[in-house]
Amino acid sequence: MTAKPAATEVDIHELLAGRWSPRAFSAAPLSREHLHSLLEAARWAPSSSNLQPWRFIAFDRHRDEAAFQRAFETLAPSNRTWNVRVPVLVCVTASTLTPKGDVSRTALYDTGAAAMALVLQAHALGLATHQMGGFDRDAFRAAFEIPPEVEIIAMVAVGHHGDANLLDDALREREAAPRARKALGETSFEGAWGKGFE
Ligand SMILES: Cc1cc2nc3c(=O)[nH]c(=O)nc-3n(C[C@H](O)[C@H](O)[C@H](O)COP(=O)(O)O)c2cc1C
Repeated sequence: MTAKPAATEVDIHELLAGRWSPRAFSAAPLSREHLHSLLEAARWAPSSSNLQPWRFIAFDRHRDEAAFQRAFETLAPSNRTWNVRVPVLVCVTASTLTPKGDVSRTALYDTGAAAMALVLQAHALGLATHQMGGFDRDAFRAAFEIPPEVEIIAMVAVGHHGDANLLDDALREREAAPRARKALGETSFEGAWGKGFE
């Protein structure tokens, strides 16, 4: 299964409606050009005062197997199962201090925007991505000597769509389940807190 479009209330761009988070990845390598393109997309994200607090760390199984393995081993067991064929993992981190040494109030916001740019560029190229919070950040910090002021936020599996029949029964079922969201009025208000947009 390569497509699972959102059932939107009104039309939105295919890039947004069509992006989804599959767990069925093929073992095909990700080309250098594709990886470069994703990181470049993230690079051009907007950020507060243009500080660009994001730092992405890419792990390409076919380029540096040892580093990839060390990153892979930090994944939660539930994520490791379906990541066995994924060719590239990208760790999303953010520098939480401004150049003046203050705690940034927008570093995570900015970095989320950059990660979304990466994910959308991947979708535009016909690639598959799946973001993950399920990994051991302390183990990752130790393994890759991440400085203390850097927040380790997420891991993104990047590759090509694969065969859902290779997933276990539970994951195959989730793969086929329709994408769901809260009603718009629950998450978007107008004029007052809690007054759902109509
Ligand atoms: C920050 C973040 C962390 C996530 N962590 C995990 C995870 O650890 N394992 C997993 O299978 N999916 C994870 N997901 C995927 C979400 O479950 C998925 O985005 C959500 O169900 C919506 O589905 P969609 O992306 O297909 O629209 C994560 C997504 C985000 C943005």
